[in-house]
Parts: sequence; structure tokens; C-alpha cells
Amino acid sequence: MSEFVKVARRQDVSEGTLREVKYNEESVCLANIGGKYYAIGNICTHEGGPLAEGALQDFEVECPWHNARFDMRTGEVLSPPAEKPVPAYEVMVKEDDILIRKI
Ligand code: FES
Repeated sequence: MSEFVKVARRQDVSEGTLREVKYNEESVCLANIGGKYYAIGNICTHEGGPLAEGALQDFEVECPWHNARFDMRTGEVLSPPAEKPVPAYEVMVKEDDILIRKI
């Protein structure tokens, strides 16, 4: 089982926003949705668009390049042109810190 790694502080990610963070060498898209945090891979599986620069609506993030949509809770594709999911991460909040690990 992988270790939890601190990736941000709570004040770094305000409600309704996305932010790119690093988990070891991996680029991760972190979201604050209704005060709860979710993390999935940041690199779109279509052509590598940066999901953290896309739009967040409910639990869906839309890739800024060609509008594929992914579920922030699972990394699953909700809308093409992407076909493969991005990885999902487990999130833990400890005082002011946000930690994640790969599921
Ligand atoms: S790179 Fe994300 S939809 Fe094309």
C-alpha cells in the first residue's frame, strides 16, 4: 500500500476550484468540491491536456483542450474524446494539510 504524501494545505484550494499538485513525480489534479477534497491524475488520457486548468462542474472536470470529462471521485471518463480513465487517489485531511495516496 502506498504512503500518504502531503500535497497542499487546505487554504491553497478554495471551494469550487482545481489545483495541480505533485505526488512523487506524478502530476495530480486536486479539487475542493463542497469543502471535500478529491484527487485524480492531471494528465488527460486523450492527448495530455492539463485537467487542473479545465472547468469544474459538480463532480465533473472538463479537459481544457478537447472537452473530455472525468469524474473527480473515480477518474472515470464521462464524455469523449478520452477513452481511458485517469488514476484516482485517496485523500486524507490532517489539520491544515491535504495528503493523498494512490488507490
Ligand atoms: S487532451 Fe483532453 S480532451 Fe483532448
